[in-house]
Amino acid sequence: MLHSAAPSNKRIFAPTGGSTDPGHAVQYKAGALNISDLAPTPTAQFHAWFNEALAAGVYQPETVTLATCSLPDGKPSARTVFMKELDDRGFVVYTNMGTSRKAADMASNPQAALTFWWREMERQVRVEGRTERLTSEESQVYYDTRIRGSRIGAWASPQSQVLEGREELERRVEEVEKRFDGQEKIPVPEFWGGVRVVPEVVEFWQGRESRLHDRLRYRREGEEWVVERLSP
Ligand SMILES: Cc1cc2nc3c(=O)[nH]c(=O)nc-3n(C[C@H](O)[C@H](O)[C@H](O)COP(=O)(O)O)c2cc1C
Repeated sequence: MLHSAAPSNKRIFAPTGGSTDPGHAVQYKAGALNISDLAPTPTAQFHAWFNEALAAGVYQPETVTLATCSLPDGKPSARTVFMKELDDRGFVVYTNMGTSRKAADMASNPQAALTFWWREMERQVRVEGRTERLTSEESQVYYDTRIRGSRIGAWASPQSQVLEGREELERRVEEVEKRFDGQEKIPVPEFWGGVRVVPEVVEFWQGRESRLHDRLRYRREGEEWVVERLSP
């Protein structure tokens, strides 16, 4: 069914937030991207862009949208997380893998996608691939770097489950604090840890004027990475 296009029905219409040109969208002019600029692998290219984002003062460039999709209903869900590790195998995030929605999605379908947006650079990176869990030994290494409150919180929070109220969460935190009282080293919960997205497709996007952006995509073909330019 077609809906009425009457502007009066729209709460928001063609916003131009941040634009210095009234009535027109912000134009992206920070850079350009050519195939000759790219590193041989997408993880090396990501590392280069991540370092440039840090140098440019992008706030928390590790912030990323993680999208998952449950099967058989095919309903997608997406949430913001932090990418905590990058190696040649892929992109690692840490989360609850017991009770959370994303854990349920990944249990039925290991495919996931990550999207980074670095506003100050006018750059986006999209990653698609299979997910795999890190071992608890690997997860323990990162878990040990977290402040005590966050380590306790990982144990105490049945992530994404309905709570009776804030008090229930606080009661759970107290219980876990008692359990580990006087104990500096806390074991990582078996239901919590690292998930690696092993990339099969990675797209680097550089904003350009008039929405004629540069999009270069790495696609895994056997052991090789094929790079192609996509139309914006
Ligand atoms: C900036 C930001 C960073 C976040 N980082 C994480 C994270 O690293 N791991 C995590 O499990 N949740 C993180 N969250 C919370 C998630 O967005 C989400 O609420 C939670 O993981 C439950 O999602 P789910 O119900 O889809 O599984 C973060 C939220 C924000 C806004």
